[in-house]
Amino acid sequence: MVKRKLVVGNWKMHGIVPETSIMLEKLKKEVEDIKKVEIVVCPPFVDLYTANISVNGTNIELGSQNVFYEEQGPYTGEISPLMLKGLCKYVIVGHSERRIHFLETDKIIAKKVAAAVRHGLTPILCVGDTLQDFNDGFSKITILSQLQAALHLITKDEVAKVVIAYEPVWAIGTGKNCSAKRATEVAKDIKHTIAELFGKAISEKMRVLYGGSVKAKNANVYFDDPDIDGVLVGGASVDHFEFAKIIKGAEKHTK
Ligand code: PGA
Repeated sequence: MVKRKLVVGNWKMHGIVPETSIMLEKLKKEVEDIKKVEIVVCPPFVDLYTANISVNGTNIELGSQNVFYEEQGPYTGEISPLMLKGLCKYVIVGHSERRIHFLETDKIIAKKVAAAVRHGLTPILCVGDTLQDFNDGFSKITILSQLQAALHLITKDEVAKVVIAYEPVWAIGTGKNCSAKRATEVAKDIKHTIAELFGKAISEKMRVLYGGSVKAKNANVYFDDPDIDGVLVGGASVDHFEFAKIIKGAEKHTK
């Protein structure tokens, strides 16, 4: 099944509010003719309101970089799915930077995935192996166990709505992107596992992205592959020109 390519920009902790509109204005101009690619920008939480006004009526969707699993209550500093509803369509869950710096466990991530889908947000669930896993030959075990753990609180139909991003930790922000061959193997493993756990029809509906040091100069190799449904871009997405080049590459590679 040929799916629309998805190109997601994760701005991480970059972009103060006034810069957000400027960055999005520039991006809008660059990508206004894009028809075949779904474009998503994930700015910091505080920028979402402004960003929402800025992208209204355009071909750019928004995502948040995180979400908490409760709807409201005494959770100082957290943002609930109810607060995000209406502001963005997607939410990144389980990014390795959150697993590493904020000690998010598979259990927490599973609750976040469930909270997101139940409030109509589409989770972009990040899974990935560390360099140690890679060197020790444990990559597959790590990736698939993260996957299974993160999806165990939701139903089959809800699973179909989740986007999975394979993001090897050793490739994030390092300039060492994973080869398309390896990214394809992992994407296939992920789809195969989803098929085993939830059925083939669900795995065929799901989208699997690759993320980790994706730049304009290396992105096209991922778009050539039917098993990779798009990319999650960090550093390169903050530069509107570079990000637009990646999106245009995806458009060109879409039949
Ligand atoms: P990077 O980050 O493109 O800067 O490597 C990717 C990500 O963290 O999602």
